[in-house]
Amino acid sequence: MAIQLVTTAAELRNAGARLLTHKQGRSQGLVPTMGALHEGHATLARTAVEQNDVVVATVFVNPLQFGDAVDLDRYPRTLDADLALLEEQGVDLVFAPSVEEVYPGGQPLVRVSAGSLGEKWEGTSRPGHFDGALTVVAKLLHYGTPAAGLPATGAFVTGGGGGLPSYRAYFGQKDAQQLALVRRMVADLNFPVDIVAVPTVRSADGLALSSRNRFLSAEQRDAALVLSRALRLVEERANANEPLDLESVQALIESQALVELDYFDVVDPRTLEPLAENCRNVPFRGEGLALIAAKVGPVRLIDNVPLSS
Ligand code: PAF
Repeated sequence: MAIQLVTTAAELRNAGARLLTHKQGRSQGLVPTMGALHEGHATLARTAVEQNDVVVATVFVNPLQFGDAVDLDRYPRTLDADLALLEEQGVDLVFAPSVEEVYPGGQPLVRVSAGSLGEKWEGTSRPGHFDGALTVVAKLLHYGTPAAGLPATGAFVTGGGGGLPSYRAYFGQKDAQQLALVRRMVADLNFPVDIVAVPTVRSADGLALSSRNRFLSAEQRDAALVLSRALRLVEERANANEPLDLESVQALIESQALVELDYFDVVDPRTLEPLAENCRNVPFRGEGLALIAAKVGPVRLIDNVPLSS
């Protein structure tokens, strides 16, 4: 069946209910995006399609998570190409609402607070970003809830075998802090959805895919490779149960003149608190997450690698 595009919550609910009925669906997956899709998003969508009977993707550039109006205006809007990419992965339905549809009363008075977890790392240079991101993710998770019992056709949708369809939402590991926060929101506020993390997709030379990479010159892109190289070095040391010796890795990053390092550390994957002892001068054991952020020319890049040993 061809992909369907809807722009209102009512259309989404009706089309979702029809799809679940038609496919006798027992599961629904949601892939929230801001568009400008690349292979990283394609992987999210493909994973959702493999694991669910019905898959909804959202394309919405959320003004609430941009500190800077210029950044918001400059964010690429490529809906036709996004639809083609999502259709190729087998996505059923795309919800691409207007700002007025999502925020009919203008900026919402009540928002989700990311708390202290949203103030560190990316939160330091982007105040309010995670409150805005979590607020829209909360709304998107509600919009994307399987429309069982809300039939467009008059038939009660049962999930194909009794009970409600299962509901999963897909987020990239690339935005590790956003992922940790979405998991906390869903757990702390009892959202009835399973969050599925999908590993970061990299180009052949190691650069993590990002909608922002298109703003890098060839020279800047080349310089940016030091970020994934640094993470790979940390990962190799963790796998070998060696001390991570972060100072030497930081020196490697700082040797690249075009890269302005913002932060680089190894943290607990759930709390994002730095792992003080278990990584510097003693052999690494357990779970960790190496985080990095840097400006390369005009572009701020983030990357990370989960560590486990
Ligand atoms: O990761 C993103 O693309 C956005 O932050 C999200 C989750 C779609 C919310 O706007």
